[in-house]
Amino acid sequence: MTNLAVIGSQWGDEGKGKIVDLLTEKADVVVRFQGGNNAGHTLVVGGETYALHLVPSGILHPEKVSVVGSGVVVDPDVLMREIESLVQRGVKISPKNLLISEKAHIILPYHRLLDEAREKKAADGKIGTTGRGIGPAYEDKASRLGLRMGDLSDMDYFSQRLENNLQEKNCLFVNLYGLPPQDSRTVLEKAKRWAEFLGPYIGNAFSFIQKASDQGRNILFEGAQGVQLDVDHGTYPFVTSSNPTAGAVATGTGLAPKLLHHVTGLVKAYTSRVGEGPFPTELTDETGRKIRETGAEFGTTTGRPRRCGWLDAVVVKTAVQLCGMDSLAVTKLDVLRGLPKIYMATAYELDGQKIDHIPASLKDFSRAVPVYEEFAGFSQDVRAARKLSDLPKEARVYLDRLSEAVGAPAGLVSVGPERNETIVLADYFKP
Ligand code: IMP
Repeated sequence: MTNLAVIGSQWGDEGKGKIVDLLTEKADVVVRFQGGNNAGHTLVVGGETYALHLVPSGILHPEKVSVVGSGVVVDPDVLMREIESLVQRGVKISPKNLLISEKAHIILPYHRLLDEAREKKAADGKIGTTGRGIGPAYEDKASRLGLRMGDLSDMDYFSQRLENNLQEKNCLFVNLYGLPPQDSRTVLEKAKRWAEFLGPYIGNAFSFIQKASDQGRNILFEGAQGVQLDVDHGTYPFVTSSNPTAGAVATGTGLAPKLLHHVTGLVKAYTSRVGEGPFPTELTDETGRKIRETGAEFGTTTGRPRRCGWLDAVVVKTAVQLCGMDSLAVTKLDVLRGLPKIYMATAYELDGQKIDHIPASLKDFSRAVPVYEEFAGFSQDVRAARKLSDLPKEARVYLDRLSEAVGAPAGLVSVGPERNETIVLADYFKP
């Protein structure tokens, strides 16, 4: 039995969908524990492409149970659409294989509106959010104004809290953002539909996970976003509003920290970022454009072109430290093929000093100049590689240096988008 967490070690978009799907084969339960539909995991299964935002990737295996944990914020409209569209494509979904925590907070329509209004008003100072209402929903959770999935079972209670919440929000909409006040009746009408459609899936995820763990079932915890987007440890304020770090497995599901047996860190063979904020190894030149095109680096959720750059081992090392990563799952190695030289930052220079950590101040991080190590490129197609020795020597040198620089061994190397285009080195789910 193993409780395994898969965590993005950079700024998200490390290619989690494929890896989670692959690992799901040996898992019995797959759990999302933070974030919401700001995430977008693309999976290519049997030549079919699926873009999932809220439903855990385990859903494509009908015999596994997918759980949306209490730390997730759920936009019920999005979740309903996602379930409907998967069912239309022949995916089997029922309360037997999908469980939504009654404690997960709801993203209400006015959260989305507030997210957009704020970004618009901030203009140059904007965060570059996905506009999905993630921040405002987590704010309401922390300020104890939020509504939870379980509240859908008691419409009187729901409506009373909604009225209270909207009173405050409408002050902002009308007085600060010059928008019309939001009407609680429209939200209530929607809520009735949510209750009817989603009600059967809502339950006690905490108990389910405890039982599954006690019974020795293999549980896969599917992270969303990446460590540098963590609200506590990332490049604040250019972060999301949850904790994509391993600690959130405990807070977002109720699994005791000591029961997490293995943490694997997703590392894309280069770096990408969407939204604003510092990114020392960003390439704004032709090489950056080539990586974006070859790697299809356009947001699954928003379609935005991602900023691309060289691998930053300082960023990855920070993730290894913060999450206690036992292994790395390196993705998209094939994208680097054909580049004459490859670079990896292993330190920064700041005010003439060499530093091996991310400066705490965002201003300093913006000024940090990467110290690069240079690697020979490789021209050989790596998509057929199934063991390390199938890779060109240059690629192996690059991977070895990454492991050494960040202090964690590679457990898996992805060399193409298909499930089988993978070199598996670690035995994640031990009997
Ligand atoms: P929010 O999560 O929509 O509030 O956005 C906050 C920041 O996190 C923005 O820079 C987003 O682009 C970024 N972000 C949120 N979710 C993801 C993701 O799944 N992948 C990459 N970036 C993300």
